[in-house]
Amino acid sequence: MCGIVGYIGEKQAAPILLDGLAKLEYRGYDSAGLAVYDEGKITVRRAVGKLVNLVEKTEEGRAVKGTLGIGHTRWATHGKPNEKNAHPHTGSRFSLVHNGIIENEAELRRRFLSDTEFASETDTEVIVRLMDKFTADGEAVDVAIMHLIDVLEGSYALAIIDSLDGEHMYAVKNKSPLLVGKGDGFNMIGSDAMAMIAHTEWFYEIHDKEFAVVSRDGVEIFTSYSQKVSREPYKAELDLSDISKGTYPHYTIKEIEEQPLVLRRIMQEYMDENGELSVPEEILADLRECDKIYIVACGTSYHAGIIGKHFFEKISGKPADSFVASEFVYNMPLLSEKPFFIFISQSGETADSRAVLVKIKQMGHKALTITNVKGSTLSREADHTLLLYAGPEIAVASTKAYSAQVAVLAILAAALKNNIGINLKYELALVANTIESLCGDKELFSRLAKEYIVPSRNCFYIGRGEDYYVCLEAALKLKEISYIQTEGFAAGELKHGTIALIEKDTPVVAIITQANTQLNTRSNVKEVLSRGAKVIRIAMKSVSSHGDQIVVGDVHEILSPLVSVVPAQYLAYYSALHLGCDIDKPRNLAKSVTVE
Ligand code: AGP
Repeated sequence: MCGIVGYIGEKQAAPILLDGLAKLEYRGYDSAGLAVYDEGKITVRRAVGKLVNLVEKTEEGRAVKGTLGIGHTRWATHGKPNEKNAHPHTGSRFSLVHNGIIENEAELRRRFLSDTEFASETDTEVIVRLMDKFTADGEAVDVAIMHLIDVLEGSYALAIIDSLDGEHMYAVKNKSPLLVGKGDGFNMIGSDAMAMIAHTEWFYEIHDKEFAVVSRDGVEIFTSYSQKVSREPYKAELDLSDISKGTYPHYTIKEIEEQPLVLRRIMQEYMDENGELSVPEEILADLRECDKIYIVACGTSYHAGIIGKHFFEKISGKPADSFVASEFVYNMPLLSEKPFFIFISQSGETADSRAVLVKIKQMGHKALTITNVKGSTLSREADHTLLLYAGPEIAVASTKAYSAQVAVLAILAAALKNNIGINLKYELALVANTIESLCGDKELFSRLAKEYIVPSRNCFYIGRGEDYYVCLEAALKLKEISYIQTEGFAAGELKHGTIALIEKDTPVVAIITQANTQLNTRSNVKEVLSRGAKVIRIAMKSVSSHGDQIVVGDVHEILSPLVSVVPAQYLAYYSALHLGCDIDKPRNLAKSVTVE
């Protein structure tokens, strides 16, 4: 996902833009650039690859003068990741940066820009050329922006500066995230609060098809039909210490080891000192009213949703199912009479999930969003929100957010049923302590990763029931940061074909925590061993046996995913470390995928 920063104030803009872009590096990108206004002229500098290339090109910003500017980190969608396609894109008058995809760019080129010479392959350049054209045709800037909103189809977060105006910059938004940061004597624009938190903790939300006119001492927000919006800024619950690595070499390992803290924070937020669960009654009422829960998410959040389905059916006795958002929106199953939707999204900005939310809201159904980002799109557009309280998750590979999602789902499922027969506060506290003890086994995880996994180009995770659900997440973790092709597989299903792939030294990791299936999984382990596999067994103590290389402490069986996933997270981390991968920012990936 691209990163956007804008600044207008009394200080030199370029260093502030570079610092803001550095705070957005975690989102994933392949080029960067900035444009700064100074005395009637806009200077643009762009660089391919890491941000450090732009920092060097602009001498840490010193070489580009001016107190008004915009910056961008690009994750290529239209056009290769090269300097020509990097943002900002500049026309005869305006310069702008864009996050999103313009779906009707070809039609716009034909309709408005048939005689325009384009310098890039991007859809973004179409936007800046339209601004040039509309204003050249006599439209004022705000009218031209409203005209843009009228003709653009797709997702866009824009920051725009005008070479004829050193007093304003413009923020325009539809579907892609964008905020305005409110300062004292300055104001900013950013893709998220992270880019601006070093300067302000007050932000204005911009809603879809709105635009903001931002000056040094004011912010005015308008609808696409020029109606002024009065909206109070909100205070972000972020602080700079949240977004630094501290003594850790990578955010990924820091966030793996923050999981006990996150679980304890969640217990504070959703339980009182006696362990009574506190979930808003209106959410429970909607859940009780429905006849089936539809859980919709992507990636790791989808894997948490599978466990959530299991919780709702096993703990609350409520029918539930979980779905990949990108499939659901185009292949919606036959819905029950009274469906209720739960969207799980760390970022709260995932376009695939949001597309489903828009559709089910149009159908008149209700939704809850479980997210880590207060005020995110999926949070604002659902009927209810439950926060993860996991703190900013910087690493692209989600770890602490996954555990937070599973924990919040367990609490929600338990709150739905008056008495679930277990003391959830005690059991979650035990989980937190058990995870904490695993932090002491790093050397073991590193050695196993090096001996069993790193030498191979593929790997399998196998398990049954809850263990299988964790295998899906374990496999995603390993492949997305070490690039080793990995599959999470139902242990009993392996022999129905896929076992043909097992050969000498193929690494297989078996997850064994459930008393009722442990013997079955152990016989599946024997099947792969007899075909030459090298097996790592992750077992819960009460069902462990001699030779299990990783034994995790006993917790309540239904909460075992919270514990058994942790060794898998470590194995992924150390495999990637031994392979010299870019662990926090894996190739091709973005932290939040805000395009469909
Ligand atoms: C997780 O490790 C991945 N980075 C990815 O699968 C992620 O979980 C997915 O894109 C969903 O993101 P969200 O939770 O912000 O909606």
